[in-house]
Amino acid sequence: MILALMGAPKASDVGTAPMSDSPWALLPAMSKNAQAIDDLYVFITVLCVISFLMVVGAMFYFMWKYKKPESGHRKTHPITHSGRLEFAWSAIPAVFLVVIFAWGEIGFVEQFSPPDDAMTIYVTGQKWDWTVRYPDFNNRELNSANALGKDGGEDRKPTLIVPEGVPVRLVLTSRDVIHSFFIPVFRLKRDAVPGRYTTYWFEAIESGEAREYPLFCTEYCGDEHSSMIGYVRIVPRADFEAELLEATKLELKDGETMEQFGGRVFKSSGCPSCHNVDNPEKKTGPSLFQAWGRTEQLADGSSIQIDENYVRESVLDPTAKMVAGYAPQMPAFAGRLNDDQLDALIAYIRSLK
Ligand code: CUA
Repeated sequence: MILALMGAPKASDVGTAPMSDSPWALLPAMSKNAQAIDDLYVFITVLCVISFLMVVGAMFYFMWKYKKPESGHRKTHPITHSGRLEFAWSAIPAVFLVVIFAWGEIGFVEQFSPPDDAMTIYVTGQKWDWTVRYPDFNNRELNSANALGKDGGEDRKPTLIVPEGVPVRLVLTSRDVIHSFFIPVFRLKRDAVPGRYTTYWFEAIESGEAREYPLFCTEYCGDEHSSMIGYVRIVPRADFEAELLEATKLELKDGETMEQFGGRVFKSSGCPSCHNVDNPEKKTGPSLFQAWGRTEQLADGSSIQIDENYVRESVLDPTAKMVAGYAPQMPAFAGRLNDDQLDALIAYIRSLK
């Protein structure tokens, strides 16, 4: 509701698949593990309903049975206890608790023990987006900054593409603070911790067609925590590689200017999370609006004019010449952008007037 007021998309807008807006609906379960968790959840719920009915039922029965007689008083016999009854109401629930523990523990261990042949995907959280890398596919990368797209969302791109029927192991980490990668349709969430790797795995169930569902950061990580959203796209195994290559390609299109291409590079690299481009206000990083030619005070007391060389150096190695007043929070892009993309990025920043 609050998200909707802020103009953020509803769950049903992010995924095209049947995400119900009903507050009573169970989420779709898109892995066997998710179905197993739902089974346990339903089991516990049914157990709770039965216990509730028994306790409240007994209460009403006794209220009726021992109500005040119409006239006079009714004397109660002295009551001590019933060993058999007390044993029963302790032992029976204890058995169910052990069942719940064992069921949950087995599922939990299973969830964090990927099979040996699982495909590995790296997921890195940073303020305020997710970068997803495919080491088996030339380290190609997706970024949640493109998840919703702009102008009606035509250029939206999934944050995570996974093949169905293939075990996938996610290796999570963070560049700055603790985030948490939550994929509701797989019933999986785990912290992404700086300086450490955490993992979980899933195998999407097969349906033969592509489906999309939301994913979230679910650890409050700062003021733009709520913008760390994206979506997972589950595709048939045969289409996976082609879809991944298509979604991760970043090159000049026909009829596109360098500035336009640079704008796409800027966006898909996650830059808009920290740099304004249409007003001079600073965010986590300095605004790039009308920045070209500006003289910046650096943290070491010197100053520098923003030109091609400075932008290039700052993108590849952001801490080389830090602007005064900012924390070193920007990731280095050395090895992540090629020269064509860098040239376009520079052309784009120069065009921000
Ligand atoms: Cu990242 Cu919340």
